[in-house]
Amino acid sequence: MKAWGGRFEKRAGVAAEAFTSSISVDARMYAEDIEGSIAHARMLAAKGIIPADEAETIVKALDEIRREIEQGAFEFREADEDIHLNIERRLIEKVGEVGGKLHTARSRNDQVALDSRLYTARCAKAVSGKVETLQRAIIAKAKAHLGAIMPGYTHLQRAQPILFSHHLMAYFWMLQRDRERLGQCARRASVSPLGACALAGTTFPIDPSAVASELGFSSTFENSIDAVSDRDYIVEFIFCCAVLMMHLSRLCEELVLWSSAEFGYIEMDDSLSTGSSIMPQKKNPDVAEIVRGKTGRLYGDLVGLLTTMKALPLAYNSDMQEDKERLFDSSDTVEMCLEACTQMISTMSVNEEQMAANASAGFTNATEVADYLASRGTAFRRAHEVSGRLVRYCKERGVGFADLSLDEFRRFSEKFDRDIYDFLLPETCVRRRSSPGGTSPERVGEQIERAEKLLAALP
Ligand code: ARG
Repeated sequence: MKAWGGRFEKRAGVAAEAFTSSISVDARMYAEDIEGSIAHARMLAAKGIIPADEAETIVKALDEIRREIEQGAFEFREADEDIHLNIERRLIEKVGEVGGKLHTARSRNDQVALDSRLYTARCAKAVSGKVETLQRAIIAKAKAHLGAIMPGYTHLQRAQPILFSHHLMAYFWMLQRDRERLGQCARRASVSPLGACALAGTTFPIDPSAVASELGFSSTFENSIDAVSDRDYIVEFIFCCAVLMMHLSRLCEELVLWSSAEFGYIEMDDSLSTGSSIMPQKKNPDVAEIVRGKTGRLYGDLVGLLTTMKALPLAYNSDMQEDKERLFDSSDTVEMCLEACTQMISTMSVNEEQMAANASAGFTNATEVADYLASRGTAFRRAHEVSGRLVRYCKERGVGFADLSLDEFRRFSEKFDRDIYDFLLPETCVRRRSSPGGTSPERVGEQIERAEKLLAALP
């Protein structure tokens, strides 16, 4: 018989049962459901709502059910709709009538909110841990190639010489913000809704804060209607993952570009590449491409859930049952992608010579020439124009700045001196960009130190 059988003359048809059932999805929250029920049973006993020995019977049976599930011995039934009712059915099978007391002063509406809040907070922490592992891989790579110079790009055009480590570390800080966001998301998810019941609270003298503190929540709800209607914490978690994936997709896009012959900056490890079934020479950076592609899934999950929640009247509506598939898909996808990125970063080989060669071609030192004149009294706009005319002059002759004689330089400005040739070197361009957060080896070294301290300070 259904949990609501009393009111009904007919059973739901098999098609309706299959359509409304969510057990194939929400079985994943069994641990959270059982923890929540144990805390609830103990609170009911502490408040004298059910006898203490009956609460203990319930708790013991719930522990056994957890073991049955973990050993694969639990029979999940579609007819029992979701994880909450499946566990309750088994509880009543095991302990009889007493099992039916567990649902006193509780509804599946606050129960599912509790489970998914616990689950979301845990996912946020797990994802954050994997982000940290990737950050460590980035730092290790940045340290392994501290001196390597590459061209920095804007508009994907060579812009100025930078340290490869500086470029890599940019991703560290993006990921650092992701971790901050995930931490805040976990905190906001950590509000216990148990005790809101269906939507209005209960007639029983419950103690929601006892349940909250037993479950490690930092607070309880203020408004029972909001408590069962709110899914912001899941939206927020998926948003955090979507931004994180946006960052990973940018990293992967660069890894794809850099592994092409056109760039030739890195080579992916064989274990993370595939070949072509027709072109024997190919080595494709599939893993990076797939991470880039999975970003779309996350955006889909985010927009999907936002759309499900849009314009829902208060309080609980079954539409909200769609939330968990999005939540699970997001956390599974993002965790896999983080692991893939960590492996790619740790195992890729870096071609420092190719980077250096590109950094010294393409007039990446043109800003340096302008800065040279500006620091010798020429207005920067004028200096920029002189450097630009020099670029044109060189291009017409098919040469670089360094091929010009001092006389030629002086035809453009008499401020040029012998030392200009020094300034043209990529090493000089990089070393002199020592402003805070800049690309000079000194600044990048400090940056890496700060990053390492941040990770060391993690709880
Ligand atoms: N399976 C439901 C969900 O995932 C649980 C809450 C159901 N409550 C209800 N009154 N149908 O949202």
